Parts: sequence; C-alpha cells; structure tokens
Amino acid sequence: MLPRFPDGFLWGTATAAYQIEGAVKEDGRGTSIWDAFCAEPGRVKNGDSGDVACDHYHRWPEDVALMAGLGVNAYRFSVAWPRIQPDGRGPANAKGLDFYDRLVDALAERDITPALTLYHWDLPQALQDAGGWTHRDTAHRFAEYACLVADRLGDRVGVWITLNEPFVHMTEGYGIGTHAPGEALLLEAFPVAHHLMLAHGLAVPALRERTAGQIALTNNYSPVWAATDSAADRAAATAFDALQNRLFTDPVLLGRLPDLSAYGVPDDPPFVRDGDLAVISAPLDLLGVNYYSPTRVAAPRGRATTGAVPAPGASVLREVSEHLDDAGLPFEDVPIDGHPVTAFGWPVVPDGLRELLTGLRDTYAAALPPILITENGCSARDEPGRPDRDRIDYLDGHLRALHAAIGDGVDVRGYFVWSLLDNFEWAEGYDQRFGLVHVDYATQKRTPKASYHWLREELARYR
Ligand code: FCB
Repeated sequence: MLPRFPDGFLWGTATAAYQIEGAVKEDGRGTSIWDAFCAEPGRVKNGDSGDVACDHYHRWPEDVALMAGLGVNAYRFSVAWPRIQPDGRGPANAKGLDFYDRLVDALAERDITPALTLYHWDLPQALQDAGGWTHRDTAHRFAEYACLVADRLGDRVGVWITLNEPFVHMTEGYGIGTHAPGEALLLEAFPVAHHLMLAHGLAVPALRERTAGQIALTNNYSPVWAATDSAADRAAATAFDALQNRLFTDPVLLGRLPDLSAYGVPDDPPFVRDGDLAVISAPLDLLGVNYYSPTRVAAPRGRATTGAVPAPGASVLREVSEHLDDAGLPFEDVPIDGHPVTAFGWPVVPDGLRELLTGLRDTYAAALPPILITENGCSARDEPGRPDRDRIDYLDGHLRALHAAIGDGVDVRGYFVWSLLDNFEWAEGYDQRFGLVHVDYATQKRTPKASYHWLREELARYR
C-alpha cells in the first residue's frame, strides 16, 4: 500500500490528441505537422503514423468508462488545433469543438475533472508553411485558437494547460528534426523557444477572461547531474540545466531569460522585444511537471575520447549530442549506470522526482505556483497476461518519492500517469507501450494491465 496522499489530490491519466485520436480526415480536421512528418519516408519507425492510433475519436465512451473503472478523478487530454482551425486561423470548425464538448460532458458525468492541454505539438500544417514557431505571428494565432476553445469549454474545464513540453518541441522539432516539423536549425532554434513562451503568455489573459479554471504550463524537467566534480563538468551541467529546465521556466516565473551565454545567445537576443517578458510572466495557478528520468552530462570531450555508445531509444539529450557533435554544444551526454532501465532505455530513478521538486522549490521559492505532475510513467515490454511488474514498480517508486517531496513541503496538487492507453509514441511509432491499458492495434481491443488493477486498488481508498 502506498502512503496516503492529501485530500482533494487529483489522480488522473494523461493522453495527447495525435497519439490516440486517429480520424485524421474526419469532420473537417485539417492537416497537422505530425500528419505531414509521418508521411515522409524514414521519419517514424516502421513507417507508423497517427492515422488510426487508438481510434479514440470513435471509441472515447469506452475510454471514459475505463477511466471511471480505474477510479481517477481527473483526465489530462489535448485538443487537436487542426480540428478547431483546420488552417490555423479563422473561425472555429463547429464539429471539432463538438467532439471535445461531448468528451468534457461525459467526464463531468463521471466526476472526472478535465485537464485540457491546448497544444501537444500538433501545429496546423498551414501555419508551418508560413514559418511555424520560427515565426512570431504563430504566437498570436495560438492565442486566437485558445479563445475559440475557451469560449466553448471555459465553463466546464477545471485545468487549462497552454503548452506541453516546449523544450522537446523546440529541440526535437526545430533543433535536430527528429520530431515534426523535422527542421534542423541547431542553435538557430532559440527563437522557437521564445515564440512558444510568447504564445503561452498571450493565451493566459485570454483564458482568464473566459474561464474560472486554473491555468498552467507543462514542462518536462530533469535533475542534471555532473559526471564528475570537476569545474568543467559542473559548468556543462549548469549549461544543460539552463537549456532544459530554466529556459521555459525563468521567463515564466521570474520574467527573465536564464544565462544562455554558453550557447552564444546574448542577454538581450534580437528575437525578444520590449514588453515580451512581462507578457510571458503572467501569473499562473499551477506549474505542470513531467518527469521521466535524470540527465548526466560532462564537458564536451568528443566522441572519440568518450567512446559513448548511443543506447536504443535514446533520450532527447543523447539525440541532441549525436546531432550536434561538431556544433559546439557546451555539454555531452553521459549514460547513467546502476539503475534499471525502461523498455525505451530510460534509467528508472524515482528519487529524481523528489530531487527535482525540492530543487524547483529552492530555485523559485515564492514565485513557484503549486505543482501538478502532468506526466510520469514508463514503457515496458508487456502483453496481456504478463505480470506488468516493471510498470507497477515504476509507479510505486515514483509515487513514494512524490509523497516524500510533499512531506518536504513541496505543494503538489495532483499526479497523472502517462498513459491511459498504449499509443503512438512519436518517432518510435507503436513500439513503445506506455499504457495502463493494452491496445491491440489490429482489433482496437482494450485490455487493462496488472498496473491498472494495482492503481485501481490504491485509488479505491480515496472514494
Ligand atoms: C513526453 C510526451 C508524451 C509522451 C511521453 C512518453 O515527452 O509529452 O507525449 O510521448 O513523453
């Protein structure tokens, strides 16, 4: 049995539109950058795409019933921007809004609080054709889209998350091109970070006018460990921490950019205009935290001397290091040994969650809003009938670490397991299975795994 969590704690599962919905051509949905990316040969493992995914667009009543059976009181999902504005601008497509309207009502009937992410990486392709997130205007388009969704759902959605993991979207989508839209701008991708944060900042007051719900931004955080105590390795850790952890947090919570001089970015970069940081630092109600694993880095030494062999299912950082080997990055990825790894090859370090939460509290102090863990979970090699022990151990360990962080005084209001269902895992296609519920993609049959039953028993104590 897990230790007891506070009353009113939100317990949920998380998903994202492109990873589960399918029905990519239905009811007026436009093309997203992920549709276009998946159609390019060699971009996604096995040539997979989200065309059908979990067919959630048609099977959502069954999926809501699975959540109700699990006993959660919250559900994090994302809205597909191209369903609402097929070309990324102009009036709302009513059928797109209708889909989410029905979903939100069905959740309310089951006493499940909707936590809605507006942007989980599926930009309308028409906006990408106009420059995507390298283009400042995309931030204004996002605020307009946020208004359309909030006009319809503002009265019923309890938690609004503007963006999911802008760090991954910037680095993988625009820095090295391993995600949609597949751009490899390397260190020229920094304006993308700024435009994403501007989009977030512009959306916050627009949402406030339309909803009494709580407003958040979701980042993925990773405690950064220096490979040794040398000054050079510690400087590398500081530089990587600025990129992953501070770049999307300091502007939002402190109203200033972190020190990016290690990347050649000046204190007042040309893409930041007067007044932008005031917009970006609009007060938030919650900070969304996604956690999967820590990161270990050293000063760059060059592949030949480290002999580091990329693991399958490499971390974002590993991929960045590989792609930017000669690009003058101020850090190099070093594998974390001595811990179990997930099917993806990610090290399992539950205490990293406690370390990162107490670290956020120490860094941001009074500027830190209450936290929601908006994603945590693991991929495992599991099939129906197998014990699913790895996932149970993963969740058990991380929930204990989370409980300890709450005991340390960190204000955490909820926890969402990634994910409800096995789903389309971006460039990995359908190979990585993160679900509490197994999906047979040939038949779309859903089968709850042992981890689902384990969590259901834990949650039964809170009813
Ligand atoms: C996160 C993403 C989510 C999922 C998990 C495994 O980076 O936000 O969509 O792919 O990783």
